[in-house]
Amino acid sequence: MEINQISIYFHWPFCQSKCPYCDFNSHVRTHIDHTNWLKAYINNIDLWKEKINPSIIQSIYFGGGTPSLMETRSISVILEHLCKNFTLSEDVEISLEANPSSVEKKKFREFSSLGVNRISIGVQSFNDKDLRTLGRTHSSKEAIEAVDIANSEFLNVNFDLIYGRQFQKILDWEKELTFAQSLGSKHLSLYQLSIEKGTAFGNLYSAGKLKGLPNQELSKKFFLTTYKLCKNNNFYSYEISNFAKKGFECFHNLNYWKCGNFISIGPGGHGRYKQNNSRYSYHNVKNPENWLDKSLKKINPIFEIEKLSKLEHFEEFILMGLRTDKGINLKHVQENTGYEINMKKLNYLKNFKFISLKNNNLRLLLKGKIVLDKVIQEILI
Ligand SMILES: C[S@@+](CC[C@H](N)C(=O)[O-])C[C@H]1O[C@@H](n2cnc3c(N)ncnc32)[C@H](O)[C@@H]1O
Ligand code: SF4
Repeated sequence: MEINQISIYFHWPFCQSKCPYCDFNSHVRTHIDHTNWLKAYINNIDLWKEKINPSIIQSIYFGGGTPSLMETRSISVILEHLCKNFTLSEDVEISLEANPSSVEKKKFREFSSLGVNRISIGVQSFNDKDLRTLGRTHSSKEAIEAVDIANSEFLNVNFDLIYGRQFQKILDWEKELTFAQSLGSKHLSLYQLSIEKGTAFGNLYSAGKLKGLPNQELSKKFFLTTYKLCKNNNFYSYEISNFAKKGFECFHNLNYWKCGNFISIGPGGHGRYKQNNSRYSYHNVKNPENWLDKSLKKINPIFEIEKLSKLEHFEEFILMGLRTDKGINLKHVQENTGYEINMKKLNYLKNFKFISLKNNNLRLLLKGKIVLDKVIQEILI
């Protein structure tokens, strides 16, 4: 593998309860054997050792599921093992996702002392009624406490909010977001509620029983309100749903959007890497128990490695890159994939102020961000 810089993602597939909107690979189990899970992660790190070295690890991300439910010992052993076996960049970013429950808040200090330097808390809302509707087990007060504790332990704190919720009013969202921005964290992930197939919300929606969702016009207003407030409060919109104070952008996620190299360890995790001038994509086995079983037996739990065609690579550059505020460099895309975007289409989108195109740099303007999927479709078809 010709890799110079790499990111590593660890997927922890368990949660205390399943939120009705969530289609992440997350499961509720009454018993989890933490010792075996740790062994499985370590075995997988060893599987990757020869392939990755001598690359430099730029970022490590514990995501889920709810990785703050992992034993702190597991995080410690994984980080030590990475340090012993790889070169970590001096400014390596180490992120961990957390829920704001009391058990996990107590662990924040320990996570920080182990080297985790960025925490991402799933707050979702500061409205208790909406938190219950979203199936969350924490209150708004607990979420505020979690953000406060996180701010005292970490310089780099993100929290997630979901907006465009059932029966939510623009004015209430304005107040909620303004409050969120006053809490002192340096990064906000702000997602419009999306209704995913196969989730509890998805099933209710199909049965016509999910009431009060915003229509297209209201969704647009939510989006524009979000952008306006973030701009006014100096949260720079560096990605369509991610806002940060300057210098606090999430390196790990930016690497995804820039189509960098990343490996994933854990059930369902997918990775991308470059080898012999081709880009490869792979997936881990999704079922947690199957993944664990294979990993403990030192059988590679990757079930599919696929060489991306130049066209797929090109599409990925567009899909990912246009999410970022910096956009994509068309020359770079052409050099890497051999494909060029039809200039007629770009000029059309430019004339209608959906995109900006300067010195080979293509990026979305606000009008284009509102209809991101349509712009991408227009470019790719
Ligand atoms: C893996 S989860 C975060 C970590 C943690 N398990 C939690 O929920 O607090 C990533 C984030 O995606 C967002 N998310 C998940 N499903 C969503 C959906 N259907 N619509 C909008 N946002 C969603 C939530 O904000 C969530 O915090
Ligand atoms: S949103 Fe977070 S806590 Fe809820 S089920 Fe998904 S991963 Fe688990």
